[in-house]
Amino acid sequence: MRAIVLVGGEGTRLRPLTLCVPKAVVPVVNRPMMFLILNWLKSHGVSEVVLSACYKPDILRKVIGRTYRGMKIDYIYEESPLGTGGAVKRAEKYINGTTVVMNGDILTDLDLSKMLKFHRQKKSRVSIALTQASNPSSYGVVETGRDGSVLRFLEKPSPEEVAGKVLNINAGVYIIEPGTLDLMKDGKVYSIERDIFPKFIGDGFYGFVSRNIYWMDLGTAAKYVKACRDILEGAYKVKGLEAAGKNVKFGGGSRAVRPSCIGSGTVVGGNSRIGELSVLGKNCVIGKNCVVERAILWDNVTIGDNCVISDCVLAGGVKVGASSSVTGETVLGEGSVLAPYSRLRA
Ligand code: GDD
Ligand code: MG
Repeated sequence: MRAIVLVGGEGTRLRPLTLCVPKAVVPVVNRPMMFLILNWLKSHGVSEVVLSACYKPDILRKVIGRTYRGMKIDYIYEESPLGTGGAVKRAEKYINGTTVVMNGDILTDLDLSKMLKFHRQKKSRVSIALTQASNPSSYGVVETGRDGSVLRFLEKPSPEEVAGKVLNINAGVYIIEPGTLDLMKDGKVYSIERDIFPKFIGDGFYGFVSRNIYWMDLGTAAKYVKACRDILEGAYKVKGLEAAGKNVKFGGGSRAVRPSCIGSGTVVGGNSRIGELSVLGKNCVIGKNCVVERAILWDNVTIGDNCVISDCVLAGGVKVGASSSVTGETVLGEGSVLAPYSRLRA
């Protein structure tokens, strides 16, 4: 089976983390987010993936490559964003059988194989995965009938519109049949959620509801951090997750508290503590007498001596001068440099 994954967005809500890399490449426990999505697709029998790219496609292609664990990876590009609908239309030539289409920023263990069975039983033209979320107005809200048919699709309704209701939201995973995009024109900008889904209603459009699954849209820094922590705590299983990679070195009196994850080649100075829920990328250098806790450091981050780094995200190559304190949900973009004695709290 083939999957088309939408990865063309600019990731504006994840800035500054997405200023230098597309969201699909943002590291989650030291691997590109896309690898976790590809693992999930593979575990449900997907063998070919088409990445629908627009923002920073060169980086995407370089990091993800043409194959992954035996899956074939193809790319399709837009010169300017066609929106979530226009992008799927552009990939239409790849839809020559039952095809999975999904957002490229979703971490989930939902049972795609079961969804496929549901799709076949219902003889759906389009099936949409639905789940529940605490803040429905950040998502597409979907009402279904007793037989699962979609009755209403409302993208990001105002909080008043959804107040007090238990509603299912669009989990960003669809299964579609060839021919379903005939109503769209090539090269036109469409939002699949606003312009297309409402048109599918009444024409073989069914919602597949999953409860008690892991599901997270990694579109904001807070959700990104939550997903990394959930993985460290085992709420979302990632194979091959290591507490420490190759050639990680600890100076005398320093230690790492689990759950945490340290990338290969990282060096931690004497008497420093890497506290729980921390992720350190590859080749980071942590000075002496530091505390790093509940922090996410990408590759090649350098922290001077006597620093406190907590509850923050530091992108690749960030340099923090000695005796600094970076705390309270600070997010620093790639290559940021802080002078010694800096105090930073978001
Ligand atoms: N190729 C391409 N072109 N991809 C795009 C474009 C585009 O113009 N615009 C967005 N994308 C990609 C993004 O990279 C992302 O992977 C996916 O489409 C969804 O875009 P988001 O910007 O992350 O949307 P959202 O999170 O606000 O809302 C969507 O996802 C929710 C579930 O996470 C909607 O589908 C909601 O209905 C849904 O509930
Ligand atoms: Mg999203």
